[in-house]
Amino acid sequence: ARTSLTSGDLAGVKLLVSAGGTREPIDPVRFIGNRSSGRQGVALAAAAAARGADVVLLAANIEDAILSEVSDCANVRIDRTGTATEMDAAANREADDADVIVMAAAVSDYRVAGVRDTKMRKEDTGTQVTLTLTENPDILAGLVHRRRPGQLVVGFAAETAENQQALLALGRQKLARKGADLLAVNAVGWSEGFETTENTLYVLAVGGELVATASGSKREAADGLLDAIVAARQARS
Ligand code: CTP
Ligand code: CA
Repeated sequence: ARTSLTSGDLAGVKLLVSAGGTREPIDPVRFIGNRSSGRQGVALAAAAAARGADVVLLAANIEDAILSEVSDCANVRIDRTGTATEMDAAANREADDADVIVMAAAVSDYRVAGVRDTKMRKEDTGTQVTLTLTENPDILAGLVHRRRPGQLVVGFAAETAENQQALLALGRQKLARKGADLLAVNAVGWSEGFETTENTLYVLAVGGELVATASGSKREAADGLLDAIVAARQARS
C-alpha cells in the first residue's frame, strides 16, 4: 500500500469523493444543470488530505477558483467528470480501491433523451418546447450494492424543508431507501446551501440516529463529517 506523506487520523485511508453538479447536454451549446458549486465536496477532499487520506476527487463542473484549494495537494487526484453517466463510470472504476466513498456531488436524476448534434433553433421549435428526460443511474445505490466488507459509503441529501425536524425526517427516509452507512443532510433553498461559505451538515447513521451536527465554514463542516466517518470506522473494527 502507498503510504501517505501526512500523518493524521486518516493516514493511509483511501477516500473517493464526488463533488460539484453534473450537467446534462441538450444540444452542443446547452445543458441542464444545478446550483451545486462543489465547495463542500472540495472542502471534504482538502480536509481529508490534510488528515492523511489519499483522495480521489470526482469533480463535476467545478470552477477552477474552487478546485484550486486541492489542485496543489500531493495526495489529491482530480478526475473531471461532466455528466452523470461519466461520473457513474468513473465512480465504478475507482470504487474498489476506496476505503471510504462520499457522494457529495449533485447528480442529475435525468438526462435528455436524444441529444441533438446541432443547435436547437427557435424557427424549428416554435413557442413551446418539450424535452423528454430519461432516468440516470443512481450512482450511490450502485456503490452501496457493490460495497466491499469494511468499505464505508456515505451519501449526501440536500433537502428543502420547513424546519429541522422535517429536514431530518426526509433524511431518515432517504437513508433507509439508499442503504448508505451515513447520510449527511443539509438544508437548501433559494438563499440557503448554495453559493454560500457556511454550511450545517446533520449526519445520520443507519437506523436514523443523528450522530453529528457539523457546522461552520464548509471546511469545518467537512472536518465534522470526517470525525463521524472516523468514529464509524472505529466502531466497526
Ligand atoms: N445520487 C447519485 N446518483 C444519482 C442521484 C443521486 O449517486 N443519480 C446521490 C447523491 O450524490 C447523494 C444521494 O444520492 O449522495 C442523494 O441524492 P438526492 O438527489 O438527495 O436523492 P435522490 O435519491 O435522487 O432523491 P430525490 O432527488 O428525489 O430527493
Ligand atoms: Ca436527486
